[in-house]
Order: sequence, then C-alpha cells, then structure tokens
Amino acid sequence: MKKRFIIGITGSSGILYGIHFIKTLAHYVEGESHVIISDSAKLVLKKELDISIKNDEEFLNYCLKDIKSPVHHFIVENPKNVGAKPASGSFLHNGMIIVPCSMKTLSAIANGYSNNLIERSAEVCLKEHRKLILVPRETPLNLIHIENMKKITLAGGIVLPASPGFYHKPQSIEDLLNFICGKILNLLDIEQKLFPSWQG
Ligand SMILES: Cc1cc2nc3c(=O)[nH]c(=O)nc-3n(C[C@H](O)[C@H](O)[C@H](O)COP(=O)(O)O)c2cc1C
Repeated sequence: MKKRFIIGITGSSGILYGIHFIKTLAHYVEGESHVIISDSAKLVLKKELDISIKNDEEFLNYCLKDIKSPVHHFIVENPKNVGAKPASGSFLHNGMIIVPCSMKTLSAIANGYSNNLIERSAEVCLKEHRKLILVPRETPLNLIHIENMKKITLAGGIVLPASPGFYHKPQSIEDLLNFICGKILNLLDIEQKLFPSWQG
C-alpha cells in the first residue's frame, strides 16, 4: 500500500540524515511525502555541505540527483505557509518525521508553540494521534532538552536520537546514515534492509 508522510528538515547539524532519508524513500518506499525545510536548515546545508540553494525545489533536486526512477513522489511546502495541507487534522497521512530536529523545533512542539508549518504539522500529529518521529542531534543535553523530550514522549511522540549503533561494523558515513534511516523505517512499520537486523 502506498504511504504518505510529512518530512520536516530543521537547522540541526546532521543535515545528511534528512537527505539520506529522502533518498531512502525515493529508492524503496512507494508513496508521496510533503517536505518542509526550515530557513535554518538551509544555513546548515551551506555550512556542512557547502551547498547553497535558491529555493526548496533545488534542495529536492539535490537529494534526488543520483536516483534514476524514484518510486516516491515529493511535494515541497513553504515553511511559512501555516495554512498548507499538513497543517490540518483532516489531512490523512502515515506519519511525520523531523530529521534532523533542532532543539528549537523540539521545544516548540513540546510546548505547543507552533510558529511555522513544521511545528504546526507536528502539533496536529499529536492531537490526531498520528505517528510523530523526531530525530534530534544535540550533545550534551541540558535539563530543558530532556524535559522537552519527556513531554513529547508523554504526548505520544517518538524521540529517536541520531546516535547510530556500531554493532553492524560501519565502514562509511553511509553505513551510519543507513542505521538511523533503517530505525525510522522500522518505526513506520516498513521492513528495512539498510543494515542487518540483530540476529541474537
Ligand atoms: C551550522 C549550524 C549547526 C547547528 N547545529 C545544531 C544542532 O546540532 N542542534 C540544534 O539543536 N541546533 C543547531 N543549530 C541551531 C539551530 O539552527 C537554531 O536553533 C535554529 O533557530 C533552529 O531553527 P529551526 O528549528 O526552525 O530550523 C545549528 C545552527 C547552525 C548555523
């Protein structure tokens, strides 16, 4: 069955996790996703990967450039448009993933302060009891971060820290990205083949 997701990409280090997740869907998961990229994510893109994009479509083209026949369709949403489809509870989907998720966005969601389309869509996920997966990359954590993660977990969200395991003996950055993207797929009830599952 085709899947529909909302993907938020925010201004946290580890922008490659977001790019790799989009690539993973494009390769293996039939369906469509609405992609929302925050302004700060574009800053991080420039800092971490030396990529400047003029508009969000360019970001998507960058993610998909090596994929000949994507099986997943992507629709870019303006983060300022809090009236777009994902902002409404009547918009049905299979889950929202924010990867990577900044501490600022995590705080906004934990405290119900929805100031852009990413935060509003996440708020709606929680109120509609839809799957919400946040992939923060911050270390160390202060008590406010931890309290915010606790609030989100109690409200039904899932915090999946970008902390890859090493038991699959990663040889490359791609192996580390695969670990986190595989974990996200597992949580979305999609069988993942990105890294070998633990065999006991
Ligand atoms: C190069 C760079 C790296 C950053 N890395 C992180 C990070 O790893 N985690 C984090 O929570 N914020 C990080 N920030 C700060 C966020 O970008 C900032 O809090 C911003 O307001 C987040 O906005 P957004 O959540 O709307 O994207 C970073 C900023 C820059 C410029």
